[in-house]
Amino acid sequence: MARKEIVERIERLKRRKNAIIFAHNYARPEVVDIADVVGGSSTLIMAARETSADMIIVGGVDFMAETVAILNPDKKVILPDRSAICPMAQQLLKRDLRKAKRENPDAEILLYMNTYAETKALADCICTSDNAVHISENMDGGSPLLFGPDRGLVYYVSKRTTKRIIPVPEYGFCPVHCQIALEDILTAKEAHPGVKVVGHPECTPAVQDQMDYIGSTSEIVKYCRDSEDTEFLVAAEVGLLHMLKKVAKEKTFHIISNTTVCPMLKIPTLMKIEEALDREKYRITVPKEIAAKARAPIERMLELAPRAI
Ligand code: 13P
Ligand code: SF4
Repeated sequence: MARKEIVERIERLKRRKNAIIFAHNYARPEVVDIADVVGGSSTLIMAARETSADMIIVGGVDFMAETVAILNPDKKVILPDRSAICPMAQQLLKRDLRKAKRENPDAEILLYMNTYAETKALADCICTSDNAVHISENMDGGSPLLFGPDRGLVYYVSKRTTKRIIPVPEYGFCPVHCQIALEDILTAKEAHPGVKVVGHPECTPAVQDQMDYIGSTSEIVKYCRDSEDTEFLVAAEVGLLHMLKKVAKEKTFHIISNTTVCPMLKIPTLMKIEEALDREKYRITVPKEIAAKARAPIERMLELAPRAI
């Protein structure tokens, strides 16, 4: 089937079912182009709270769909392919978090959005990469924070907060952002002297130390759009180039490493989205008790940092 035909079918199905499509900034360009909401985790969560649609198709990975389902227990939340899983979210196990809490009973638990509902249910607050520093500073009192699973984000926040951060697990990481090596960034800087480096806090500490601007996917897009600079080196997943070129057509972007691809975020294709709308598969639901416990720390995040980027 030709792409135009698939897109027309998607539009028809969306109207018939009062459905809406969410796409993460790293999704396939053709998915980004037809989505109703495109953004990073913060944007998608805000949109999930506000939509009046009956069905939400998530062009992202499992933890994103699960979080949308936690906030919308009465809507049909659909992940087009169950194999779209985030390897970072899998790295934080409930038993490791419970053990860390037993060892640090005074600590509060702050978890990255990239976690599963069962783990979120143990947290005091959730954060995204664009509000993590603000949230860490504004959580109650001076208690240390058990924070995970991403060690890159832990490094980023630790440098900017007064709170003591205890990483959990000790070495959680995003296998995609961690592919960007120090050598890659140094070589790119040599080839493009004076060009600003923008990147994501899921990158390794050594790579972060080479950046002029660090932010969530949406913050990077906004920064590049609004900056007076016209050329950037980008330390993020390759999919971000599409969004960057969409919002700043006249500017030049060089991706630091072409191999920085999240295969999981490329799983939702147009054909899979059309099928998902048609067959209403795969519906993501979270058991009531877990959803109630996981919703509380998400709501706390939204109280402490009410606006998306
Ligand atoms: P943000 O879009 O929130 O920056 O997250 C990046 C990411 O890796 C999502 O899995
Ligand atoms: Fe998970 Fe990293 Fe892919 Fe984001 S980019 S979905 S953190 S593997």
